[in-house]
Amino acid sequence: MMIAEFVQERDLTLADVMEMTRVEGDAWKLSHVRRVLQLIELIGEGMVYDHTAVTIATYLHDWGAYPRFQQPGVEHALRSRQVAETLILPRMGLPDTAVAIILETIAYHDYRDFRPVQSTEALLLREADFLDFLGIIGLVREYGRGPKEIESACRAVLKRRELIQDRFTLPIARQMAATRLARLEQCLAWLQEESFDFV
Ligand SMILES: [Fe+2]
Ligand SMILES: [Fe+2]
Repeated sequence: MMIAEFVQERDLTLADVMEMTRVEGDAWKLSHVRRVLQLIELIGEGMVYDHTAVTIATYLHDWGAYPRFQQPGVEHALRSRQVAETLILPRMGLPDTAVAIILETIAYHDYRDFRPVQSTEALLLREADFLDFLGIIGLVREYGRGPKEIESACRAVLKRRELIQDRFTLPIARQMAATRLARLEQCLAWLQEESFDFV
């Protein structure tokens, strides 16, 4: 189903949002969303938060980077927020409190954004999204992104690591980050060894 058909419907459900994420974002981006949702479950254990709001926010958080919605010069988190606010959330029949949480969660998720967040949901998405940039998954994601060039992918991984590694506040996220950082370190060392530094 295309976006135009979705937005003409009076009521959008979470299932519609999931399907739109699959169609517009492709399998690569949908799998990122699924991993992030799994991470939120893990790092949010024992915390009180709106599961529906954070789930909707997670599906929508990168839409601003999808070809259909991206706008040159507009940072993707802000663009995702705009799309959610104007096209999607008004048709979901959510309470105003949930809408406010979803918009904040989307707008503040990016690792380059150092502004403090207000809601637990925003903190959960932010730290889960950080984790998906670390460890083996972070490394292979970078190579999946292209271009076909090892050195630039390594540089990008290291740059992200520098910006993310000290930003975790949630106890379980901190533990998971420590594990992923150690694995990343080991993996990069092995890569250096096996490539004789010719990358
Ligand atoms: Fe993002
Ligand atoms: Fe993301």
